[in-house]
Amino acid sequence: MTQHLLLGQTLGFDTITLPDGPEGARHDSAGAVLIDGDRIAAVGPAERLRADHPQAPVTDYGDALIGPGFVDAHMHYPQTAMIASWGKRLIDWLNTYTFPEEARFADPAYAARIANRTLDLALAHGTTTQTSFCTIHPGSVDAWFEAAEARGMAVVGGKTCMDRNAPDDLRDTAQSAYDDSKALIARWHGRGRATYAITPRFSPTSSPDQLSALGALWSEHPDCLMQTHLSEQTDEVAWVRDLYPNARDYLDTYEQHGLLGRRGLYGHAIHLEPREIDRLGEVGAAAVHCPTSNAFIGSGLMDVMGLARAGLGIGLATDTGGGSSFSMLRTMAAAYEIGQLRGQPLHPAQLMWLATEGSARALHRGGRIGHLGAGAAADLVVLDLASTPAIAQRAARAEDIWEALFPTIMMGDDRAVRATWVAGTCRIGA
Ligand code: GUN
Ligand code: ZN
Repeated sequence: MTQHLLLGQTLGFDTITLPDGPEGARHDSAGAVLIDGDRIAAVGPAERLRADHPQAPVTDYGDALIGPGFVDAHMHYPQTAMIASWGKRLIDWLNTYTFPEEARFADPAYAARIANRTLDLALAHGTTTQTSFCTIHPGSVDAWFEAAEARGMAVVGGKTCMDRNAPDDLRDTAQSAYDDSKALIARWHGRGRATYAITPRFSPTSSPDQLSALGALWSEHPDCLMQTHLSEQTDEVAWVRDLYPNARDYLDTYEQHGLLGRRGLYGHAIHLEPREIDRLGEVGAAAVHCPTSNAFIGSGLMDVMGLARAGLGIGLATDTGGGSSFSMLRTMAAAYEIGQLRGQPLHPAQLMWLATEGSARALHRGGRIGHLGAGAAADLVVLDLASTPAIAQRAARAEDIWEALFPTIMMGDDRAVRATWVAGTCRIGA
């Protein structure tokens, strides 16, 4: 196997749940990561790893920070070309911008173009795993996984299912959603680094029959993930109450149809009832925090700490194109700002944990991606902590790693990404 030794500062975590602060973080100001093939073989002091592996070629990143590549736990690759579209509320924004753009994915060549563009943007921003909703077209799922395979990336994706409250050319049926998703699972789930997520868009765009069909499919393929949206906006919650008069609450519309489970990913999860929080915690499902989107579409302030304390997994996500940035740095900054508005200032260690370990664990890939440790995939980001004059002058005064890193979290973007490695191959930078 080909070995490679990367030198720099290193930062990783040992905690499997959201830490209260910097405890559980492993920082080494003169560290090294030994790559062997597509995996991390060792993380430790530069001096020791150099002495132990004198033959390994070395890339010295100086003071830059080497960490696990960012893991985006919820986004919509078909919305890449319409990111930053002005809108009023979620449903208005979906109808005005999202659905017309998603209709274009009937053309497989267009789907391939946007899938490739999205993954290139991810890598430029230091993101090595994305979790995407595709469109109703099976070809959009093939395009997504093919583009990821060409880059060696571990991604999650699934055909978005909708059989009502959507335009004619964006509707499937309960049966075709089941059949198409099942065929896509057979084609992609577990092939190379691909993970399939059964994907009902959200309760308003699925009939009870469609939710039942997808619940049955999940029970036949319990190792698949299931991704959807939950309680993003108050008017959406009211609409769900009208559409499902027999459901106890929004979560119950999924639970009644077999769509509540440990491998479930529930995007947004802002306006939740106590029962919903208890149930999500009981089953150990994951809520995915989409802070730039929640600010951009005006959805609300997710209670990250409260949900973590209730036992939910928590992932962090760009939610592009409802989210306003491809950068997980910008996403961490928004999570910090939203935390502040709730009186919960998240520590930089918590923000970094969410963007790597938290998202990876929400995807049930803990220890394998988003992790700086032996045996994990060599999916890495190398961050320049002085990437702009404004960041550099603040970082110059830092007294510890957290003060040095926080200006990059708050003000950094793709200019801070010195290199991105995927499965042991350098894809961005040198
Ligand atoms: N709820 C249902 N579909 C979507 C979507 O595409 N984006 C966001 N932010 N919320 C949704
Ligand atoms: Zn979404």
